[in-house]
Amino acid sequence: MNTLNTTTWPQGFLWGSATAAAQIEGAAHEGGKEDSIWDHYARQPLAVANGDTPEVAVDHYHRMNDDVQLMKELGLDSYRFSTSWARVVPGDRTPNAEGLDFYSRLVDSLLEANILPWLTLYHWDLPQALQEKGGWANRDTAYRFAEYAEAVYTALGDRVSHWTTFNEPLCSSLIGHVAGEHAPGLTDPNLGLAALHHQHLAHGLAANRLRELATARSREIELGITLNLTNAVPNDPSDPIDRDAARRIDGLWNRMFLEPLVLGAYPTDVIDDLREYNFEQYVQEGDLEIISAPIDFLGVNHYHDDNVSGHPAPRDATPGLRPTTKPGRSPFVGSEFVTMPPRDLPRTAMDWEVNPSGLRHLLVRLGKEYPTLPPLYVTENGASYDDTREGDAIDDPQRASYIAQHIQAVADAIADGADVRGYFVWSLLDNFEWAWGYNKRFGIVYVDYDTQERIPKQSAKEYAALIAATKAAV
Ligand code: FCB
Repeated sequence: MNTLNTTTWPQGFLWGSATAAAQIEGAAHEGGKEDSIWDHYARQPLAVANGDTPEVAVDHYHRMNDDVQLMKELGLDSYRFSTSWARVVPGDRTPNAEGLDFYSRLVDSLLEANILPWLTLYHWDLPQALQEKGGWANRDTAYRFAEYAEAVYTALGDRVSHWTTFNEPLCSSLIGHVAGEHAPGLTDPNLGLAALHHQHLAHGLAANRLRELATARSREIELGITLNLTNAVPNDPSDPIDRDAARRIDGLWNRMFLEPLVLGAYPTDVIDDLREYNFEQYVQEGDLEIISAPIDFLGVNHYHDDNVSGHPAPRDATPGLRPTTKPGRSPFVGSEFVTMPPRDLPRTAMDWEVNPSGLRHLLVRLGKEYPTLPPLYVTENGASYDDTREGDAIDDPQRASYIAQHIQAVADAIADGADVRGYFVWSLLDNFEWAWGYNKRFGIVYVDYDTQERIPKQSAKEYAALIAATKAAV
């Protein structure tokens, strides 16, 4: 990683790392917290690999001070974490002082370590009590989200300046409600589309509420959202059927999320693709104005591109050539629209292709296709590999190389004109990787799940060295 050109980074570029509440905190039923949809879903047979649950996770709730110390040792500028709605407002009742106090102590500890808190309000863990009232398919949940945002702001707004409403609404709407591969594990396109619009509405309501609260108190606030965006690459670019598949995937996964925020309108070609579901029934007058409230940054999560085809998956394809039907990746477009096997590229333990030029391309094209976009932050990028522990050393040259290549891609995108202001590696710690349970390790810090011991991997050491080198170069 040290070979990177350290002089290319804009002044104030933020180097960070990210986690999410349900993936690291544990203490799932402590301190007043009640079930989130992930606690509930993980208890369903076969929902999560090995029957793993977020109950204990990596016990961050009890090890928070040590974890912040670890971040300090790595030299992080910023830490991206999420607050758990089910800890802050358990059971959809009144705000829980003990839950808020945990985040207040986390924020204090970060500030004391000179680390900027980068707070996300929703990283997929709706209170189960709200799910029982219809969850995101129920429009009322959007209004409850704004109340929850206000409760968190009231407790932390004096110290937290960077606020993200949602992480990857694609996953928490379509993947959770249509593909059924994430909580709440539903498979109904109508619920998925209702959830999609209601999450957008929740974003806009919360953004407006936070802005008003900050203005009334004369506080600085930076507001944004994080989307997982892809380059949908036609398997055969000369084939119109594959090209149309790529248009549909780009529409459903990127434009359905970007355009209401940035342009105040849903993309008409996608609405037309979805006409049998009558998406517009969910959109009420005034909603798009709320949803397109100005934001100060866009978080971009990107791990890999998607190679798509409009042709039926060849059933007799030899293993390795068979399309990878990734969990829920094509919820509407039918079994013929699949993510094809990666294009002769190396893959991570998730079977995701390693193609850093995709990140460069994405960051550059976003600014070109949407000139009114605010500055970008790469809020997640990283890789899972099967780490092995040799004594107290974890050598993970593949992850270190993945991260280095993607940081170089960010530098190249900036050189090509993209306005990127920060990079957060996913993840600080090995953790509960949703439906994959504890099987997939994304951390730059290894966690021994029996003892909860933390051991910085080679990738953490190289990332820390890169951060130090960029600072020294300024
Ligand atoms: C993203 C999620 C994050 C983590 C990474 C690997 O989609 O936001 O929580 O699971 O993938």
